[in-house]
Amino acid sequence: MASRYDDVMSLSVRRGFLWPAVDLYGGFSGFYDYGHLGARLKRKWEDLWTAHFLGLGDNYYLIDTTTILPEVSLKASGHVDHFTDILVTCTKCKESFRGDHLIEAVTHEEAEGLTTAEVDAKIRDLKIRCPKCKGELGPSRPFNMMFPVGVGPLGQDRAYLRPETAQGVFLNFKREFEALRRRLPMGLAIVGRAYRNEISPRQGAYRMREFLQAELQIFFDPATFGTTLPVDSVKGESLRVARGAEKHAPTANERTVADLIRDGLPAFYVYHMVLVQRFYLDRLRVPRERFRFAELDERERAFYNKVHFDVQVAQDSLGGFKEVGGVHYRTDHDLSGHALASGKDLSVPVADRKVLPHVLELSFGVDRNVWALLDLGYEVAGDRSVLHLPPSLAPVVVGLFPLLSKQGMPERAEALYRDLRPGFDAFYDETGSIGKRYARMDEVGTPYCVTVDHTTLGDGTVTLRERDTMGQVRVPGTSLAAILRDLLDGRREFRALGSPVSRP
Ligand code: GLY
Repeated sequence: MASRYDDVMSLSVRRGFLWPAVDLYGGFSGFYDYGHLGARLKRKWEDLWTAHFLGLGDNYYLIDTTTILPEVSLKASGHVDHFTDILVTCTKCKESFRGDHLIEAVTHEEAEGLTTAEVDAKIRDLKIRCPKCKGELGPSRPFNMMFPVGVGPLGQDRAYLRPETAQGVFLNFKREFEALRRRLPMGLAIVGRAYRNEISPRQGAYRMREFLQAELQIFFDPATFGTTLPVDSVKGESLRVARGAEKHAPTANERTVADLIRDGLPAFYVYHMVLVQRFYLDRLRVPRERFRFAELDERERAFYNKVHFDVQVAQDSLGGFKEVGGVHYRTDHDLSGHALASGKDLSVPVADRKVLPHVLELSFGVDRNVWALLDLGYEVAGDRSVLHLPPSLAPVVVGLFPLLSKQGMPERAEALYRDLRPGFDAFYDETGSIGKRYARMDEVGTPYCVTVDHTTLGDGTVTLRERDTMGQVRVPGTSLAAILRDLLDGRREFRALGSPVSRP
């Protein structure tokens, strides 16, 4: 029986969302390409993310920076020395593995953050052999995950493909501070590509070597930030959190903001967890029980973070809760590193003081989020397959059909399509039975379909069908654009348009 992963990937390939890159030549491990529907879904996710997160502050902006960075800058940030995973190579077949993954496959417990000596000891104690050929595994060693690039005709200038968008923001912080409003907090976001030479990208679309990040870096004055935010207004709000050993279970506990602050988390940090959770539950419509924050301890978290919770979504195709983002308190780690290495003063004036800002990073993997939406949304019930995407993210938002290919219905439906096309992702279809046309739209997540029928020829009304309920209402063709806009923007509910008749 095909696995859930295979089902989602099969939908994805069949209908044009995403697939392994370069499959013409047998594939290119860790790289994926997006088809027409996937590219549109991804772009809509980016637009929604950008609107939501830049909207969190009135001094928050989008920037765009280079994807190749010179070694000196990544040495200063700590990536040259610390951005490593532990590599273990089979002495017989020479296949490479991540040390922690070899151990996790046997113990079913997270092994991230172990030292090379600890990995070697566990491999010995647990008698782990090469998963591919059962050969003896060699000693483990740290492996830097950045892709080196030689810049210049002789490749003489050492550089790397950026491992995170964040560094582009830190390198530009001072310029932006001076060009903008010269005040904190200041938020700078990048939506752009990042690259990691993953040792064994065997988890399909989850672990990519080239991927898209959406990251917001919030620069703030650590002496005042917590007190300037409306933390009191969210104190009673409940967050889904797994801390310590809790994260090994496939659940989360509900904890109030007040509780988490009492437990020692910074108020500004917990406040932003609320904003991230709202994005997932309200905007992306992730079911509450499938969302959680999972805390990483000192050994597990990235070397630049002081407080680190992963943002996780439970996905059946990936075996449970998986990271789709993170809330990272990076302190002044990056700015002080760049100030020291460049010899430039990166502190800024705040009232009568000079402050080296601290940074709170809200970081998201766009591809992982797109995959999560496909996983959560794809439902096969009997012979009906439906992709329950949030309407505002659907690559096609409305399908337009003539009931019959005669009696002037195609002309009327095409005229409606042409009216809607500039403002909406609309799709016109007159091939096959009306049931098949609905089915094709359901499977790619199109939330609404419009059919021109005999009644339309008399009174100008059309049927408007909702994907999830399959209910249909009659609405005037002339009001379609306004109604669709209201539905997509959440200003109106489908059931408020009249009593729907449920039809296939
Ligand atoms: N910038 C944080 C990360 O790449 O995970």
